[in-house]
Amino acid sequence: MRPSTAPLPPTLVVIPTYDEREALPGTLARLRAAVPAAHVLVVDDSSPDGTGDWADDVAARDENVHVLHRAGKEGLGPAYLAGFAWGLERGYEQLVEMDADASHRPEQLPSLLEAVRRGADLAIGSRWMPGGHVHDWPLRRLLLSRGANVYVRAALGLGVRDATAGFRVFRAELLQGLVHGDVASQGYCFQVDMTRRARAAGAVISEVPIDFDERTEGASKMSPRIVREALVLVTLWGLSHRTQQALNLLR
Ligand code: GDD
Ligand code: MN
Repeated sequence: MRPSTAPLPPTLVVIPTYDEREALPGTLARLRAAVPAAHVLVVDDSSPDGTGDWADDVAARDENVHVLHRAGKEGLGPAYLAGFAWGLERGYEQLVEMDADASHRPEQLPSLLEAVRRGADLAIGSRWMPGGHVHDWPLRRLLLSRGANVYVRAALGLGVRDATAGFRVFRAELLQGLVHGDVASQGYCFQVDMTRRARAAGAVISEVPIDFDERTEGASKMSPRIVREALVLVTLWGLSHRTQQALNLLR
C-alpha cells in the first residue's frame, strides 16, 4: 500500500478491459513510459482470458497500477462509470478514458492533458478534425464512425466532430456532475451521452487531433446490438433536443 503521506498524482488513466490479455501488456508498458506520473486503473469484467489476473500481477509490482474486478461483462459504459467512481473517491484531478488495445497512442496523452491544463474541462482525442488520422481501420468501421458522427451532429448539434471517441481527459469537477444512474451503457452511445451531458453542463470541450490505430491484438467488442442501441438512443436524444429548441422559439 502507498504510504498515506505520498501525494496523490492528479491523473488516473481508466482502462476498461474484456479479453485484452494479448493487447494490454504493450499498451500498459507504453503508457507507463509516456506518462510515468499517471496512475492506471484497469477495470476488468472477469475476462475469461485472464486479463484481470495478469493485471493483478503487474499491480503487485507497480504501485501506480490498480485493478478493479467486476463480476461479469456489462459493457464499456458501466466499466468506465465504476472506474470514474473509484478515481473520484480517491481525489484524482484528471480522469482519462483509454482503450486497452493501443488504438489510442499513449504517447499522445500529454497533448490531451495539456488541453485540460490550459482550461478545458473535457479534452477529446479527435480522429475527425484536421491533423486527426485513422490507420488500418476496415472501411465498414470508418463508414460507421463517420456516419455515426454525422448523425450525432445532425441530431444533437453538440459542436463536436468526434463525439463517439474513446480517448478523453475529464477534469474531475466536471465528471462529478456527469456520472449518475441514467448514463447510457454501451460503446458509442456512452461516449455520445457523456459528450452531450458535458455540453449541457456548460463544459469547455476541446478537441485534440489524434492518430487512431486499428488494434493488432485481440478483437473488437463492438457489436450490431451496441450500434442499434446507439441509433435508438441518439434518435431519442435528438428528438427531445430539437423539441426543446422549438419550444424555446415559441416562448
Ligand atoms: N470492462 C469492460 N467491459 N471493458 C470493455 C467492455 C466490457 O463490456 N467492452 C469493451 N471493453 C473495452 C475493451 O476491452 C477496450 O479496452 C475498450 O473497451 C474499447 O473496446 P473495443 O472493442 O476496442 O472498441 P472499438 O475499438 O471497437 O471502439 C472504439 O471506438 C469507438 C467509437 O469511437 C472504442 O474507443 C470505443 O470506446 C469508441 O466508442
Ligand atoms: Mn479498440
